[in-house]
Amino acid sequence: MRLVLASGNPDKVREIKEILADIEVLPLSSLVDKIEIEESGLTFRENAYIKARTAFELTGLPSLADDTGLVVYGLHGMPGVFSSRFAGENAGYEENRRKLLEALRGLPHSARRAYFICVIAFIEKPGGVKFFEGKVEGFITEKPRGQGGFGYDPLFLYPPLGRTFAELSLREKNRVSHRYRALSKFRGYLNESGISR
Ligand code: IMP
Repeated sequence: MRLVLASGNPDKVREIKEILADIEVLPLSSLVDKIEIEESGLTFRENAYIKARTAFELTGLPSLADDTGLVVYGLHGMPGVFSSRFAGENAGYEENRRKLLEALRGLPHSARRAYFICVIAFIEKPGGVKFFEGKVEGFITEKPRGQGGFGYDPLFLYPPLGRTFAELSLREKNRVSHRYRALSKFRGYLNESGISR
């Protein structure tokens, strides 16, 4: 089966391709001229839907989009849907991490409890959308640790392994992550519905 992936983020594309290794995943950017999809939704679902619908309308092929965020308990759910622009509209990973550490400075340890959430939207026919959600719980560290992963990974301690996501290899992260959990549900759906054949 072939799928269009509505993401311009090469880090996400790499992980999704590894997780869905038996499916041909075509990044939207390889099929159409560069487009910026505005993530104007107020929820992960809305944003995932906006991206998947754009890819489906442009290509007519089964389309998948991922919207992800980091939800920190002690920050009332921030950065949440603003994860990519926490430190400003054009902020990079490093600036967002720094802003997160600053926001947590001085707060009790319990404020550092957090989870990643990944919402996948899948559109395969006009008017139809399916959502799949994956979450993983952890803690925000005091300092970045590890060289792998991307985004907030160096700050996200995964307690069952005692390491941050950036201290895991790609394969290790892809066995436990929010993205893996959402995509496993998606794969279950493909198998049950016979779409994957
Ligand atoms: P979006 O889904 O493209 O809006 O991603 C939001 C932001 O969340 C990204 O810019 C990254 O900073 C962060 N992010 C998304 N996925 C991950 C992940 O797997 N690990 C760490 N940070 C992530």
